[in-house]
Amino acid sequence: MSKIFINPNVKKGKINKEIYGHFSEHLGRCIYEGLYVGENSEIPNVNGMRKDVVDALKEMKLPVRRWPRGCFPDEYHWRDGVGPKKKKKKMINTHWGGVLEDNSFGTHEFMELCDQLGCETYINGNVGSGTVREMSEWVEYMTLDSDTDGPVSPMADLRKANGHDAAFPVNYFGVGNENWGCGGNMTAEYYANEYRRYQTYVRNYYNPKNPDKKNIYKIACGANAGDFEWTETLMKMAAPYMDGLSLHYYTVTHDWSHKGSATSFDLDEFYLTLSKCAYTEELLNKHGNIMDKYDPDKRIGLIFDEWGTWHDVEPGTNPGFLYQQNTMRDALVAGMSLNLFNSHCDRVKMANIAQLVNVLQSVILTEGDKMVLTPTYHVFKMFNVHQEASLVESVINCNKVGTEKNLVNQVYESASVDENGTLNITLTNLSATDSDEVEISLVEALVKDIKAEVLTDKMDAYNTFENPCAVTTKEFNDFKFDGGKIVVKMPACSIAALHVTLK
Ligand code: AHR
Repeated sequence: MSKIFINPNVKKGKINKEIYGHFSEHLGRCIYEGLYVGENSEIPNVNGMRKDVVDALKEMKLPVRRWPRGCFPDEYHWRDGVGPKKKKKKMINTHWGGVLEDNSFGTHEFMELCDQLGCETYINGNVGSGTVREMSEWVEYMTLDSDTDGPVSPMADLRKANGHDAAFPVNYFGVGNENWGCGGNMTAEYYANEYRRYQTYVRNYYNPKNPDKKNIYKIACGANAGDFEWTETLMKMAAPYMDGLSLHYYTVTHDWSHKGSATSFDLDEFYLTLSKCAYTEELLNKHGNIMDKYDPDKRIGLIFDEWGTWHDVEPGTNPGFLYQQNTMRDALVAGMSLNLFNSHCDRVKMANIAQLVNVLQSVILTEGDKMVLTPTYHVFKMFNVHQEASLVESVINCNKVGTEKNLVNQVYESASVDENGTLNITLTNLSATDSDEVEISLVEALVKDIKAEVLTDKMDAYNTFENPCAVTTKEFNDFKFDGGKIVVKMPACSIAALHVTLK
């Protein structure tokens, strides 16, 4: 049995919608086939963007998209991706499968897709193999509106010549990616200096047509998982110049040389995966504590901009394409992680799961004109009620479950109150075999009504192109309430969202 105490009147901060963000790279079939099929494709599309995928992502409420990163952008030169399609320079995608990249999806296409999705834009600049000038001109190309009395901008004119008069919205800008690894193998000190230099030229151009435009939110490359030294150095040397500092951590069941199958695993491996994901909490606390030392007012956001499970690729697929299936185990990882990010929303301002479509822990898989929504998709959709809501105080007491070596908390939870006063509570039961009675006591509040939904199945259940709706959310009624007390019977291996109307 688990016990949770929630006080809907004690607000702990805003849960930024960007915590529900996604990451899409020129990798495997994420951009090409997954999101972009081109105007001449037989797959229904709007200006080249897959209609089925865009509609599903809008329904999930995708708030922000990070592109073209991770390792790819440190070899990406933005000019190759703008201008007439036929003339675009081709390149080999050396990071991912050695395939030909024809650059048909570039800046204009990214902006078109974000426009269709109604989401914010997060661009990643090239520090590894690009110049300061290249980065600065890209920002000018995208954001300077030269339809003014000011000086003529060659970059804005080039954008216009390429068919887009108005400036594009750039909300977030990442200065490099994984610069401790694929982004140039730099030391923390070296990168901190480079960051200070490059970010100087990520300019905010005044636009008289849009005088209230927000400044570009600048994100420095942060640590790989438990590299706390990196965070310390970046905060010490560059804190005043950044709005956000990133963090990358992937849930890998075994190790990088043998990660483990996405669909075929035993109970030990199931709990091993979940215990690896549970390390996220330690990372949030330890990196957060270092940031607190230099930034006690929490001005700088911790941007958890690569997270999710990384399994072996599906048998028979290109190892460089990172295509993996997605089971209830992945859905639990998503539920745990999102609850943790919500609970740390005083510091975590954005998080991006890797990656949107057909790569790693995707919310959507495609095959030709077919599309499958993964269990992870359903978690993001269930949890979207937290976007822009106020986190409220909650305290939990629960059992541990798992095997001797890999014990994890049975229940992860978070609770928020939205603008209509609805209290939304999301819960995960990590036991693969046992249901759990969760008793929720509301402090100084009474329940009027509850609507709920649940995602539950066997730990290795997943959706296929033949059976796309095997794992999906259902209405949930296994709860009772009386006054300020709610008792929920969480099925084994489940994730639930309760929408509580208060009296
Ligand atoms: O998401 C796949 C890769 O993982 C990204 O390109 C890189 O940033 C990270 O190492």
